[in-house]
Amino acid sequence: MGRVKDQVAIVTGAARGLGEAISYRLAQEGARLVLGDIDETGLEATATKIRDEGGEVVTLIGDITEEEPASQLIESAIAHFRQIDILVNNVGGSRNSKIWEMPVEDWDHTIKLNLRGTFLCSKAAVPHMIQRKQGKIICLSSGAREGTPWTAYYEGGSAYSASKAAIHGFMRDLALELAEHNINVNCVAPGPIDTKIAGAKLRKLNETVDFSPNRMTPFGRLGQPSEVADAVLFLASDEASYVSGHTLAVMGGR
Ligand SMILES: NC(=O)c1ccc[n+]([C@@H]2O[C@H](COP(=O)([O-])OP(=O)(O)OC[C@H]3O[C@@H](n4cnc5c(N)ncnc54)[C@H](O)[C@@H]3O)[C@@H](O)[C@H]2O)c1
Repeated sequence: MGRVKDQVAIVTGAARGLGEAISYRLAQEGARLVLGDIDETGLEATATKIRDEGGEVVTLIGDITEEEPASQLIESAIAHFRQIDILVNNVGGSRNSKIWEMPVEDWDHTIKLNLRGTFLCSKAAVPHMIQRKQGKIICLSSGAREGTPWTAYYEGGSAYSASKAAIHGFMRDLALELAEHNINVNCVAPGPIDTKIAGAKLRKLNETVDFSPNRMTPFGRLGQPSEVADAVLFLASDEASYVSGHTLAVMGGR
């Protein structure tokens, strides 16, 4: 207990899935939270669960792929808590299809969803971190940054893979830019995780196709959201004070 005690953590996309699990884990370890999402009902459910266990939470509804809401999310942390210690850039997702069928707007949507919010939230948070000469930024990349066989074979995921590789590159540069300000920047790259939305799809794939996530993963199982949250917690804590510019794979082996 207390691995991030009293630290102020912003988590984007906290209404469900990995964002919810990460928020809950950080709260369990004493963080005060600023949570953002476009899903008001889901976000309030996450916040209520954390408050019921004594946690301190501020929520903000908004599309963080746009500059104004992204900046408002960051500034609400300053308004409520006067500091930002941890930023978890979790929002992401994909519209999959094979490249010859992929609508250009789906390509643009996927790139924007995974990259633009991460850029905008980091841009808004960094000046506050520089001021205090401390901060931890954790971005959600994906095992897909190196290509994902099951997606590639059955659906096509080039936009998603490209954007998650870009998140890795973004993080590598930011880690160098911000090192002199004592700010750690890292990624977590989950493999197939049993979240409510992705997990249902991945489990179905396990039953219906040869190259399923289970078969392609050395451990032979889907990961649990808590296993990703634990990796984020490590990178957010002082235990990772000398770790920066690293993508930590949480994908059941490689
Ligand atoms: N679940 C997996 O198997 C898996 C694997 C690898 C990487 N990831 C990555 O982890 C992150 C979380 O994945 P997940 O499975 O929990 O996703 P999810 O789709 O279940 O949850 C995403 C959350 O972000 C919110 N959101 C979406 N667009 C938003 C926007 N523009 N502004 C604010 N909030 C927005 C959604 O409402 C939702 O609550 C993503 O970056 C994803 O790419 C997930």
